[in-house]
Amino acid sequence: QKKLRIAVIPGDGIGKEVMPLGVSCLKAAALKFDLSLEFTEFDFASCDYYFKHGDMLPKDWKSILLGYDAIYFGAVGMPDLVPDHVTLWGSLLKFRREFDQYISLRPCRLMPGVPSPLRNKKPGDIDFWVVRENTEGEYSSIGGKMFENTDREVVCQETIMTRIGVDRVLRYALNLANSRPKRHLTSATKSNGISITMPYWDERLKALTKEGNYADLNIDKFHIDILTAWMVLKPEQFDVVVGSNLFGDILSDLGPACTGTIGIAPSGNINPEGRFPSLFEPVHGSAPDIYGKGIANPVGMIWAGQMMLEHFGFKDAALAMLKAIEEVLAKGEPHILTPDMGGSTGTTKTLGAAIERNILGK
Ligand code: NAD
Ligand code: IPM
Ligand code: MN
Repeated sequence: QKKLRIAVIPGDGIGKEVMPLGVSCLKAAALKFDLSLEFTEFDFASCDYYFKHGDMLPKDWKSILLGYDAIYFGAVGMPDLVPDHVTLWGSLLKFRREFDQYISLRPCRLMPGVPSPLRNKKPGDIDFWVVRENTEGEYSSIGGKMFENTDREVVCQETIMTRIGVDRVLRYALNLANSRPKRHLTSATKSNGISITMPYWDERLKALTKEGNYADLNIDKFHIDILTAWMVLKPEQFDVVVGSNLFGDILSDLGPACTGTIGIAPSGNINPEGRFPSLFEPVHGSAPDIYGKGIANPVGMIWAGQMMLEHFGFKDAALAMLKAIEEVLAKGEPHILTPDMGGSTGTTKTLGAAIERNILGK
């Protein structure tokens, strides 16, 4: 059986707190299902590393990480110590781009036992995937600053959309929607105001849907402003939602917030061809406001591990991990659940350990 080599990068803040629980749950799944998982931990892509070495990554980071099948990533950023664009462009965003992880796959699911801030929502009412373009769009490096420190100061940053880049993410989302029972794709646009790139996005979607395979797929599009409103007012209508880099980023915090907490949301940064390692991480960041308290929700990290097993085809183990998360959350025990889900004395460790025990069948 294939061995999965996993590079573990905890990063900063609560990334360092939730990572151990993610790894212990994966180890439990490996034990239970006889998987061969090999973990190697790295201290780079963190502010600690930055202060020691003057850079976020070692020079040979790319060749190091190319030796792994996947990257299991916590979170990066300590904005009071180092500007965010330095830490993020020096690590995570570099991985996404240079490893061509052009799909960001982010499930939003209302879990049993987790209260939604929306009235009268029950599990099943909110259950959709955000497919986010992950390598271009609004996150471009083209632009600059001129006439610095004068009253003519000007900054600009271009949005880049390539035909290859737009088509591949739209096609991925179309295929994902096609494979789901509801067979419904929603595209996020803003072609009324952003008058060149967003009409192009719409135009490519239209062109691809004519390819034939999608003939009877239910496809709609909304401008991003009203789309955010619908996500709160009627989240039941969404099945697969596809968006540009920035729109997908925003929707993938809003969606999980509607399911109670962003602390449970996972994501896969995927290079579908497998030419480069894919990266699995929680959607949330390093949460400096709660770092050190031991109360960070570990579910996003653990669920990201579940997505990693699913990605590599370890179906039974992945199913068991998801079931463990659901069962532990469904019990709704205040001394197990973290405070962001309405828990009282629950901590990162109590919740992570409960999920680990469930995976082991104890
Ligand atoms: P954040 O996700 O870190 O935190 C937002 C809010 O959600 C905070 O109140 C935080 O306490 C809470 N929260 C987040 N995760 C939680 C969890 N697991 N359990 C309980 N509560 C949780 O977003 P932010 O405050 O905008 O960013 C903080 C830092 O993290 C910044 O440096 C930012 O750039 C970085 N960031 C990194 C990533 C990443 O590495 N993928 C993602 C987002 C933000
Ligand atoms: C995310 C984060 C990152 C993003 C930041 C930290 C650069 O918000 O993974 O959603 O914008 O992609
Ligand atoms: Mn984000």
